[in-house]
Amino acid sequence: MQMYDLIQKTRRLEPLTIEEIRFLVGGYTGGSIPDYMMSAWLMAVCCQGLTVEETTELTFAMRDSGQCLDLSAVNGVTVDKHSTGGIGDKTTLLVAPIVASCGGYVAKMSGRGLGFTGGTIDKLESIPDFSVTLDREDFIRQTNQIGCCIIYQSGNLTPADKKIYALRNLTATVDSIPLICSSIMSKKLAMGADGILLDVKYGYGAFMKTPEEASVLANLMVDVGKQAGRNCRAVITNMNAPLGSAVGNALEVKEVIQMLRGEIRNHLTELSLALSAQMLTISGKGDIITCRQMAEKALTSGMALEKFAQMIEAQGGNAKVVENLSLLPESPVSRTISARSDGFITEIHSEEVGLACLGLGAGRTADNPNIDMGAGVVFHHFVGDYVPKGEPLFTVYGQTEALCQIACNRIMKAVRVKEAPAVAIPMIYQIIE
Ligand code: URA
Repeated sequence: MQMYDLIQKTRRLEPLTIEEIRFLVGGYTGGSIPDYMMSAWLMAVCCQGLTVEETTELTFAMRDSGQCLDLSAVNGVTVDKHSTGGIGDKTTLLVAPIVASCGGYVAKMSGRGLGFTGGTIDKLESIPDFSVTLDREDFIRQTNQIGCCIIYQSGNLTPADKKIYALRNLTATVDSIPLICSSIMSKKLAMGADGILLDVKYGYGAFMKTPEEASVLANLMVDVGKQAGRNCRAVITNMNAPLGSAVGNALEVKEVIQMLRGEIRNHLTELSLALSAQMLTISGKGDIITCRQMAEKALTSGMALEKFAQMIEAQGGNAKVVENLSLLPESPVSRTISARSDGFITEIHSEEVGLACLGLGAGRTADNPNIDMGAGVVFHHFVGDYVPKGEPLFTVYGQTEALCQIACNRIMKAVRVKEAPAVAIPMIYQIIE
């Protein structure tokens, strides 16, 4: 079998066989297929696409390139959730304790931030002493005892994806639906949960720019998940504006705790409850209406806050943060920007906000791999709100006045205030079951 022929087949829209796909994935992961050949094939996929069957086989071959987790020692149905990436997306930190409070099991591996999008692991690491590396036995034990455990996706899971993703990043081949599907689903399948809920984002701050594109990706991922025998669903959600009020690691944890304490409620709360209800349904806890009520009760009763504290303590973190938010890091300089005129907020461009936060040090860049855990922005209003002139719009946190000034200028341009309100766009566009 020659890689040259496989590149040509994909370029000519001739489907590859299972053996050819396995040859390609195995050969590239093992080093016998060089980067330039794999790059050519990835570009052929970007331009010509793959069939559903090819995408499924590519996903399975990538899943099988490394170790697969066995979660059968968990005392019930395990359920995982994956977000395709967003700005201010801290839903995992809310849904894990909510679902666990309702008797579900969330044994979850998460990643670090990628580009301008945040990562759950970075957010958790902003909690003093929180450990994201547990061995398999402790991971299972904690899931059985508490109902939720979130650790860093380490070990030899999907080495094919690690290598292919790095190459895609360098060859302008990231935004291809079959490649995104195989990358995400190979990892989700290797992580071993019985059920998978996919939160597929669309909008300025997402890979998929329109809900229609997101729907194609979501349907494909659900299809592949089902082919693998998993109970898989997807929710397509709006990522035009940041999720919730905070963007930045410790600031987002603070928002999560305030929400779990019942002090704030916004569109993030509603999305987290909707996602929790889907995960509980996948776990067999009842129909969607019953599960939504269970999730609501877990939140409002304080049970989910208690679960969150238990998870922090079990993973070595300082659980006192749930009572004392000042234990979380906060950057030394802050700057608040107010509305220059009366009007309605019609847009908060999430990608621009993400990039501004990256500039503040809230995420990693090629030049700076270290994160300022206390940096970021907190919005005081959301899209649709009326703001009178002089009303605070957002507060930026950073290490220096200069960094805060640059971020404020960028975020000012990302926030549009107009005389008339914009048409409200629902948070959830579609649910695929
Ligand atoms: N996230 C992934 O893990 N892979 C992709 O290809 C895109 C987003």
